Amino acid sequence: MAQHIDLAEEIHWASRRDVQSRFKLFNNLDRVLHWVETGQSFPILVNMTLTNRCNHRCPLCTSREYLDDRTMPTDDAKRIIAEVARLGAKAIGLGGGGDPTCHPDLAEIISFIGSQGLEVALNTNGQLLDAAIIQAAIRHCTWIRVSLDADSSETFKKTHGLGEEAFAQVVHNIGALVEEKRRTGSEVTLGTTYLVGPHTLAGAFHATSKVRDLGVDYMRLRPFFEWDQAAAHGDEEDRDASGRVRPSRAYAARVAFQDEMVLQLARCESLNNDVFLASFPKERTLAAGQHQSRLHKACYVHHFETVVSADLKLYPCCMLEDNAKYSLGSVAGKSFEEVWTSQGRRDAYGRVDFSDCPNPCMLEKHNELLWELKHDELRPETRVSDLLAASRTKYPHANFL
Ligand SMILES: C[S@@+](CC[C@H](N)C(=O)[O-])C[C@H]1O[C@@H](n2cnc3c(N)ncnc32)[C@H](O)[C@@H]1O
Ligand code: SF4
Ligand code: SF4
Repeated sequence: MAQHIDLAEEIHWASRRDVQSRFKLFNNLDRVLHWVETGQSFPILVNMTLTNRCNHRCPLCTSREYLDDRTMPTDDAKRIIAEVARLGAKAIGLGGGGDPTCHPDLAEIISFIGSQGLEVALNTNGQLLDAAIIQAAIRHCTWIRVSLDADSSETFKKTHGLGEEAFAQVVHNIGALVEEKRRTGSEVTLGTTYLVGPHTLAGAFHATSKVRDLGVDYMRLRPFFEWDQAAAHGDEEDRDASGRVRPSRAYAARVAFQDEMVLQLARCESLNNDVFLASFPKERTLAAGQHQSRLHKACYVHHFETVVSADLKLYPCCMLEDNAKYSLGSVAGKSFEEVWTSQGRRDAYGRVDFSDCPNPCMLEKHNELLWELKHDELRPETRVSDLLAASRTKYPHANFL
C-alpha cells in the first residue's frame, strides 16, 4: 500500500515537472511532422503584446529599450485572435512588451480569447490587477504568473524600481488571485517568478516561502539575462571605459555567485510539498552568464510560436521583438494568414543570426528537438525510448512553448 502511494506521488511530481519538458512539442506531433515533411506550419502559440506601456521600471527589463506608449487597438486584437483561432492556433500568451494590465481592455480581451476556444496565459507584474481582470483571468486562463522578484520592498526597489506601496499591492493582488481561484474552484495554475542575480539571491528563500504561504502553486526561479552586468550594478570600478563589466571581475563574481546560488536554490526546493513547487532549470541556472555551444545550426521554433507586437508586427520570438531586422511583416490592415505565408516572413526568419539571440535562449530546448527531428540527427542523450514515451504522454500546458 505504502508503495502504491509513493508511486502516485512520483507520477504527480513528474507531471508537474513535465511543464518544462523538452518533449512538450510532441503533444502537437501531427503539426511538427507536417512541418518536417513540407516545411509548412501554423503557430500553436501566438504571443500578443497588448501594450508597450509599463507602470514599473525594472533596471534589467528585457524590453526596456522599447517600452513606450504603443498599444494594440482592441478591435485589432480581437480580429487577430478570431483569425488565428479559426486557422488552428491553440493558445494566446499575454505577457510580452510592457505589462498587459496597462492595456485598457485587458479583461475584455481575455474573455474574448476564452470565447474563441483558445487557451490563454497571463504574465504580469501584478500591481494593476483589478477585480474585473482577476475574474476574467481566473475564469479563462490556463496559467497566470506574477513577476514578484522580491521578498521585501528593498529588493523590489532593486528589481522593479518601485517602493513599499507597490510591493504591498503586488503581494495583496497575488492573495486576491488565490482567493478568486478558491472561490470559483478554477483549475488555473497560479505562479510567481523570482529572477536570480547577485543582488537578489539572498531574498530567494524568503520570497519562495512567502508565496507558498499565500497559496500559489509554484515559484519559478530563473537567472537574469545579463546577470553579470547586474553583479556590478552601479559599481563603476568594475566597469571598463565602454561600460562593460571587466572580464576578470565578472568571472570572479560568477564563481562566487554560482556557489551561493546552488545553496540558496536547494533551500528553496526544500519548501516543496504536495501543492507547491519551487522550480529552476539546473542547466540554465548553473550556466548563468556562460555561453553554451549549440548543436542546432538554425532556429525552427518560430514555425510553432510567434509574437504580434503592440504595433501589429510579427516577430519570430519575444527575444527579438522590436528588432527591425526580424520584423516578419505587419498585420495592420492585413490578415494574419497573408503575412504568415508571405515571402517577407520567409526572408526575415531566414536571416536569424544567433549572435542576435540570448544564449541560451528561452526556446533553446525546442530548437534542439526540432533540429534532431528535421535532420534525423539524434543527440547522444536523446533515446528513442524517450521519444516513444513522449508521443504517449500528455504534457501539462503543452500549448505554451
Ligand atoms: C518583459 S516582461 C513583460 C511582462 C510583465 N511586465 C512582467 O514583468 O512579468 C516578460 C518576462 O520577462 C522576464 N524578464 C524581464 N527582464 C528579465 C531579465 N533581465 N532576465 C530574465 N527575464 C526577464 C519577466 O520576469 C517576465 O517573465
Ligand atoms: S514589469 Fe515587466 S515590462 Fe515592466 S519594466 Fe518590469 S520586466 Fe519590464
Ligand atoms: S532568440 Fe531563440 S527563438 Fe528567438 S530567434 Fe533566436 S534562437 Fe530563435
